[in-house]
Amino acid sequence: MTYAIRAEGLVKRFGETRALDGVSLAVPPGRVLGVLGPNGAGKTTTVRVLATLIRPDAGTAEVGGHDVVREGHRVRRLIGLTGQYAGVDEMLTGTENLMLIGRLLGLSRAGARARAAELLRRFELWDARDRAAKTFSGGMRRRLDLAASLVGHPSILYLDEPTTGLDPRSRNGLWDMVRGLAEDGVTVLLTTQYLEEADQLADEIVVIDHGRVIAEGTSDQLKAQTGGQVLELRPVHEAEVDKAALVVAELLGSAPEVNQGLLTVPVGDSRAMPAVVRALDDAGVAVGELSLRKASLDEVFFALTGNRERTGSPAADEGREEASV
Ligand SMILES: Nc1ncnc2c1ncn2[C@@H]1O[C@H](COP(=O)(O)OP(=O)(O)OP(=O)(O)O)[C@@H](O)[C@H]1O
Ligand SMILES: [Mg+2]
Repeated sequence: MTYAIRAEGLVKRFGETRALDGVSLAVPPGRVLGVLGPNGAGKTTTVRVLATLIRPDAGTAEVGGHDVVREGHRVRRLIGLTGQYAGVDEMLTGTENLMLIGRLLGLSRAGARARAAELLRRFELWDARDRAAKTFSGGMRRRLDLAASLVGHPSILYLDEPTTGLDPRSRNGLWDMVRGLAEDGVTVLLTTQYLEEADQLADEIVVIDHGRVIAEGTSDQLKAQTGGQVLELRPVHEAEVDKAALVVAELLGSAPEVNQGLLTVPVGDSRAMPAVVRALDDAGVAVGELSLRKASLDEVFFALTGNRERTGSPAADEGREEASV
C-alpha cells in the first residue's frame, strides 16, 4: 500500500450542483494532507466520500487499500472523523460521551472507561469530565470531538475544519494535538479555510474550489507559485497611473490591480522592487508611496483562483465573495 488515502476523479452531484467535479488526491501513510478551500468548495463532500458516508457518482477512492464503496466496512474500521459540526451529545458528560463511543466500538465497560480517561487527560478535559457537554466552551467541544474520533485508535483521521471558531490560543492547542497524532504515525486529512493552518500542519496541500483541485504542493511551493509578496505603489500624479500600470505589467509580466490610484501587484521576490523603481524612473513616472509587504491569505487564494480563471473555467466567478480564505 503506497498511499493511506488515494482518490481518483471523484464526482458528486447534488441536483444541479457539482459538489465534486473530479477531485484526485493521495496521502502517504503517516503524512498530513491539508485540503484548503473556501465555503462550498467541496471539502466536506470529499471527507464524506472518503469516510464512506456518501457514494461518489464517479471516480474511485481507496482508504487503507480498501475501496470506499465496495469495502466500506473495512474502511470504517480504520478511520476516525471529526466533523465540521460538533458530533457530541450535549446532554452527556465528557466521560459519558467517550464511553458511549467506546461501548459502540465493542470495548468492555472497564476498557471504555479507561480509554475515556486517557483521552480526557490528553485533551485537557479531565477537570470537566463530569460536566454535560452543553456547558463546554467551543474550544472544549472541539477537543471532545477530536477525542471522540480517537477512541477507536484510528490509523487514518479526517478533521473537517477542526479550528473554525476557535480563539488563537485554543487553535494553537489543537494544532499541537494534531502534530502529536502525526508524530504517532496517524495519517491525517485536514480541511481548512485558513492557509496558515495548512501551512502549520500539512506536509502537502491541495487547494480545491468548485469541486476541483486548482493547485497542489507543499506550502512553500504554493507560496512560490503565488508570489508571496505584494508590491504597492502610488504615482504622485493621478494622470500617470495608467502609464505606471503599463510599465509594471511589462516588467513583471502581470498586470497590477488599480484601486483609487494605488497599484497592487504580486511579486516573486524583493529584487522586483528596485527594478520597478528604475523602470518607472526611466519612464518619467514620479512615485509617491512605495511598499513591499507579505501577501495576505486572501491574496494568495485570489492568485490561485485567478490562475484557473485564465484557463477559462466557466464557474470561475461564482462564489467569489465567499472566497474568504
Ligand atoms: N446534501 C447536500 N445537498 C445539496 N447540496 C449539497 C449537499 N452537500 C453539499 N452540497 C453543495 O455542494 C457544494 C460543496 O459543499 P461542501 O459542504 O462540500 O463545501 P465545503 O468546502 O465543505 O464548504 P464549507 O467551507 O462551507 O464547509 C456546495 O455548493 C453545497 O451547497
Ligand atoms: Mg464543509
